[in-house]
Amino acid sequence: MCGIVAYIGQKNACPILINGLKRLEYRGYDSAGIALFDSEQNLNVYKTKGKVSDLENFIKDKNTEGKIGIAHTRWATHGEPNDVNAHPHYSQSKDIALIHNGIIENYAPLRKELEKRGFTFQSHTDTEVLVNLIEDIQQNEKVDLFEAVRIALNQVVGAYAIAIISKKEPYTLIVARKGSPLVIGIGKEGDYYIASDATPIIEHTRKVVYLDEEEIALVQRNTDICIKTIKNEEKTPYVHELEMNLQELEKGGFNHFMLKEIYEQASSIRDSMRGRLHPETDTISLGGISDYEQKILRADRIIIVGCGTSWHAGLVGEYLLEELARIHVEVEYASEFRYRNPIISERDVVIAISQSGETADTLAAIRLAKEKGATILGICNVVGSSIARETHAGVYTHAGPEIGVASTKAFTAQVTVLTLLALRLAQLKASITKSRFKELAIELESIPEKVKQLLKNDEQIIKIAERFKDTRNAIYLGRGINFPIALEGALKLKEISYIHAEGYPAAEMKHGPIALIDEEMPVVVVATSQRIYEKVISNIQEIKSRKGKVIAIVTEGNQQIKDIVDYIIEIPCTEELFVPLLATIPLQKMSYHIAVMRGCNVDQPRNLAKSVTVE
Ligand code: G6P
Repeated sequence: MCGIVAYIGQKNACPILINGLKRLEYRGYDSAGIALFDSEQNLNVYKTKGKVSDLENFIKDKNTEGKIGIAHTRWATHGEPNDVNAHPHYSQSKDIALIHNGIIENYAPLRKELEKRGFTFQSHTDTEVLVNLIEDIQQNEKVDLFEAVRIALNQVVGAYAIAIISKKEPYTLIVARKGSPLVIGIGKEGDYYIASDATPIIEHTRKVVYLDEEEIALVQRNTDICIKTIKNEEKTPYVHELEMNLQELEKGGFNHFMLKEIYEQASSIRDSMRGRLHPETDTISLGGISDYEQKILRADRIIIVGCGTSWHAGLVGEYLLEELARIHVEVEYASEFRYRNPIISERDVVIAISQSGETADTLAAIRLAKEKGATILGICNVVGSSIARETHAGVYTHAGPEIGVASTKAFTAQVTVLTLLALRLAQLKASITKSRFKELAIELESIPEKVKQLLKNDEQIIKIAERFKDTRNAIYLGRGINFPIALEGALKLKEISYIHAEGYPAAEMKHGPIALIDEEMPVVVVATSQRIYEKVISNIQEIKSRKGKVIAIVTEGNQQIKDIVDYIIEIPCTEELFVPLLATIPLQKMSYHIAVMRGCNVDQPRNLAKSVTVE
C-alpha cells in the first residue's frame, strides 16, 4: 500500500508525477503529496489529506515547475490521515525530502535517539524518522546522500520503498527498496521514471529495471543507473521489457474499473488458458512449472497460502486438486501461517496465490517455507512482482492489470489456473480416466463463451440490487466447491458497499447464523445442480420457514426452485467443478450495483488498498 512515483529528466515533472499518482491511487488514497525542485533549486513540498484530485486542486496556484520530483499517495499506517502526516516528508533542515511505502518497525527507538540529538518532529510518521536519520548521518559522517541512505538503511528494521531528493545534490534521485516494490523506467531521452509498479511508467517507456531486496539506486539524468546493495556490493541492472498495454489501464467507456474488469472476464479467463489448454490433443501445458510436476506429484501435500480474495481462490483450488488429482491440500491465510511455526518439510509444495505479487504476509509466508526447504510455486497476476520472483517457479494468470480495489477478474483467472493445474496433475497421475479428462477439458474451453452469455443478463441483478440496497446485513451460503464462492460473494458486498455480510457453508446455518434470519434478511444461496443439490434445497426451506428472503443462483432452466425462493439468477449449465467460474460473476455484479446505488466509491472503497505491502 501507498504508491510512490518519481521523475528525473528534461520534462516538466509535475504532470508526470500527478498522472503517475492517479495510476497508483488503488494502493491508497488517504492523502497525497509532491516535492519538486524549482529553477532556483528550492525544494517545494505540497501535500494534503484526501485524494490525488485534492492534491491537484491544492497545487493549482503553486509553483510546480521543476524537472525532478517525487510524489506519494498514502494508505495510513502510522499517524492519522491528515496534511501533516502526508508524504513527502522534509528533514529538519528542509534540505531533504523523502517518500516511503512500507513500515519502519524500529522507528520509536530511532526517533528517541534523534530527539536526544536535537531533532524535532512535525508528524507522527515512521517516515519522518527515516529522513531525519539520513540527515543526521550526512551531517555527522560528512558523506554524500547515497552513502547516508545506505548507512541509514542498515539501521532500519522493516519494509520500505523510498525515493529521496536533496538540495545539496539537486541533480540526483536516490531510490531503494526492501519488502515493498519499486520499478525504474528507463526513458528514451536520458530520463528516468520511478514507481511502485509499472502502470505509471508504461506510457513513457517499456524498458524497466526492477530493484531487488535491499538495493539502492543512484539515478541521474543521462547517466547509467548505479545500483548497490545496502551492504555496499555493486549490482548490474537487468533491463526487462514491459508487456503491458496502455489501454488496459483506462476505463474504456465503463463508469468504473470494477465494472470494466467484471466484463473483461470472458477474455481474461480465455487469456489465462491460452496456449495451455488443448482438448483436441488431450494436453495441458503449464510451461512455468513443467520442471516441477514430478516434485508436486511426489509431495506429501500442497499448502496454498494467500490473503483476501486470493485465499478464496485457494479454497476452490483445494477442492479441485483433491477431487481431481487426489493430492492432500491445505489452505492457509498467509498471515496466520507465517506466525505459527508451521511444520513444513522438503516434501511439501507451497503455492502462493497473489494478484499483486506484493502482499507482505504472502511474501513472508513463502520466505518461511523456502527456509524450511519446501518447493515454492506462485500463481500471480503481476509479471515481475516480488512473489513471482521469489518463488522457484510459477504460472502467471495473465488477467491483465486489475485496477479496481475489489478483485474480480484476477479471482476467476486464479481459479482457472488452479483448474488447469488440477487437471494436469490428474492426467499425470491417471487419477481420472482419459475420457473424463477430455470431457472436462472440452467443457473448460467453453467457459469463456458461457461467461459472455452470463454477462448479458443484467436486468434481474439490477432488480435484486434495488430491492436489497438498503439492507444492513446479508448472508451468503454455498456447499462444497461453492462454499468459497459464498465467502467471496460476501467479501465483495462488504468491501464496496459497507454492508455487513457473512459467508457460510450452507449446512452450518443451523449452528448459529439461522438465529439472524427474519423477514428482512437477504440470504444468497449458490444452489446450482450439484451432488448435494437436494441438501441445499433443504437449507433453503429452513430459511424460508423463518421468512428470510432467498436469492438463489441456479442452473439455467431450473423450474423447481422458482416456487420456493424469492429471486433467482440463472447461470449456464456446466460441470460442477467449474461452477465457481460462473457463479462468482453475478455476485460481483450484484455487489457492484448495490454499491453504486448506495453512492459508494466502487473503485476505491474506504480504508482499503489493493496491494497490501504492510503486515
Ligand atoms: C487486498 C485487496 C484484495 C486482495 C488481497 C490480497 O486486501 O483489497 O482484493 O484479495 O489484498 O492481495 P493479492 O494481491 O495478494 O491477491
